Amino acid sequence: MAKIDLPRENFTSKFGVIAAAAGSAVGLGNIWRFPYIAGENGGGAFLLVYLLFIIAIGMPVMLSEFSIGRKAQRNAIGSFKKLAPGTPWYFVGVIGVAAAFLILAFYSTVAGWTLEYVVKSATDSFADKTGDEISQLFAAFHTGTFWPLLWQLIFMGVTLAIVMAGIKDGIERYVKILMPLLVLMIIVICIRSLTLPGAAEGVSYLFSPDFSRLTTEGVLAALGQAFFSLSLGMGTLITYGSYISKKEKLGSTVTQVTIADTVIAMLAGIAIFPAVFAFGIAPDAGPGLVFETLPNVFQEMAGGYFFGLIFFILLSIAALTSSISILEVVVAYMKEELNMTRRSASIFAAAIITLLGVLCTLSFGVMQEVTIFETRLFDLMEFSASDVLLPIGGLLIVLFIGWYLGAARTREEVSNDNSLKVRYFPAYMFLIKFIAPVAIAIVFLYGIGLLNI
Ligand code: TRP
Repeated sequence: MAKIDLPRENFTSKFGVIAAAAGSAVGLGNIWRFPYIAGENGGGAFLLVYLLFIIAIGMPVMLSEFSIGRKAQRNAIGSFKKLAPGTPWYFVGVIGVAAAFLILAFYSTVAGWTLEYVVKSATDSFADKTGDEISQLFAAFHTGTFWPLLWQLIFMGVTLAIVMAGIKDGIERYVKILMPLLVLMIIVICIRSLTLPGAAEGVSYLFSPDFSRLTTEGVLAALGQAFFSLSLGMGTLITYGSYISKKEKLGSTVTQVTIADTVIAMLAGIAIFPAVFAFGIAPDAGPGLVFETLPNVFQEMAGGYFFGLIFFILLSIAALTSSISILEVVVAYMKEELNMTRRSASIFAAAIITLLGVLCTLSFGVMQEVTIFETRLFDLMEFSASDVLLPIGGLLIVLFIGWYLGAARTREEVSNDNSLKVRYFPAYMFLIKFIAPVAIAIVFLYGIGLLNI
């Protein structure tokens, strides 16, 4: 049975597209996840590999996702059904929707923490505390039950409200003002952090590559982080691509979003690593890293109360513009493929994700003992989604473009029906057909230990 193409809700301006896509990409992944994953994997060498993956794999995958969504004008699963009818390719979208559940579950745990830190900053809770005391404050809070859960519920409630209302009128409008403000704030924090005593050690940890500290798991983590940070591999950008008007240049959108995302991650690293060494925090402290380092920096700076407060507010907003893009993947699917209303799809999806999220949150506290393969539920969901499902999704997406959809049909979409020159196209196609799939497959198989040198 053929479906009729209804006129689709579109982003209304070029800047709206960039703001929405950059809003999705820039989030906790840049400021919370990037520094701690880099810290756990030895710093400088990790950074180099990460940047290489961003350029050689991330950007081509992003262009592929946008093209698929805009060509098909459908959600993550429906797009494959439309472009490859009667084939199992739609399964790529199924993986994506599954990943969306897992990612938003643990994402909302950490987003809840940022809300608590807004309140902690507002009530000046870090005043006169030593580095150790600030670390203890984080430990006491995030292993608790009531407050972490309450903040998580509030965060999911706000995410739900925005997605239910549709994207255009809410998020698009605010993100354009708030994202530049976030960048400005991070720059101020970087400056203070870089002038702390002992800052040089942190800078060199992040920027001097020491390949002896990089493991094959570290290389997989760099790939997972590249996908996570750019919102790739689960159909977020297929879904958003379907809302991009046929007049926009997909190639330049990709470049701008990637630059914004990468610059913010670098700035976060520059803000955090000097503080790590100045305050004697372990660089591989894990998911709590931002929450343990930055309050120290705010304490040490003139106007720190004010900067700390604004910073955590902006970080919460950055998390929100990402979380709505994750929920939208599930909602667009349920709405278009299961014929649910936006409202019931949003409520249903958010409820299930919140249930999973509660498990993630409690896995730091009362459910600490519940482990699978000796791994805390939070870390298990984080790893299986980011380092397993996203790379697999990304691999299948590039194979789909490179070997199924093919150069001619892809070029048509990327070049707006051949009205743009797209000089980069042959290079893109080469990366998509040969380099990206082989690289992803090798990194993945080594990283999970199925291949050994
Ligand atoms: N990229 C976002 C961040 O860095 C998180 C995110 C949004 C995401 N959509 C995604 C991650 C899709 C993976 C896949 O915080």
